[in-house]
Amino acid sequence: MKNDILNYNNIPFKTLFARERIEARVKEMGLQIAQDYTDKDPVVVCILRGGVYFFSDLTKEIPISLELDFIQAKSYIGTESSGTVELIKDLDSDIKDRDVLLVEDIVDTGRTLKFLISHILSKKPKSLEVASLLFKEGGDAVGYPIKYVGWNIGKEFVIGYGLDYDGKFRNLPGVFLYSE
Ligand code: IMP
Repeated sequence: MKNDILNYNNIPFKTLFARERIEARVKEMGLQIAQDYTDKDPVVVCILRGGVYFFSDLTKEIPISLELDFIQAKSYIGTESSGTVELIKDLDSDIKDRDVLLVEDIVDTGRTLKFLISHILSKKPKSLEVASLLFKEGGDAVGYPIKYVGWNIGKEFVIGYGLDYDGKFRNLPGVFLYSE
């Protein structure tokens, strides 16, 4: 289908989730989150940098009072089994006894999220839930329930809507399959 392809710098990328589909799904997720957090005063945390578009769109679709914060980790992947994660930017707010919702772009192996979840839990929030736009097959290493998932996907590498390849393509308006 012609509409399935986005030409970007003359590179044809195949659409996995078009902008309109993402908008619709993000709206649904926002309403669900708003229902679950009615009468609460949550802190919503964006995992930089990949979560940036999902976080900005999602929080605008949650029509209740929210506080926003940002956290960043870096994964060093040497071999499959020796990936270590380091904290680059910590939260600015005090989340002790707060309801925290962590927003991620994609769970792949789950290592990054596992690290951030344990870091956040050490600050003793009242509750911690996770929203991820995408969940890749095999991401169970995270060992924590992901309450809000946009879509489950296969092992493919995806770009756009915050997701990068080598720092590029984050600004593509939807999620696309990356192939060299
Ligand atoms: P994990 O620690 O293996 O779960 O990897 C999580 C991080 O790796 C994500 O937050 C992304 O930044 C990046 N990542 C994993 N899979 C993809 C992908 O398909 N496209 C772009 N980035 C990805």
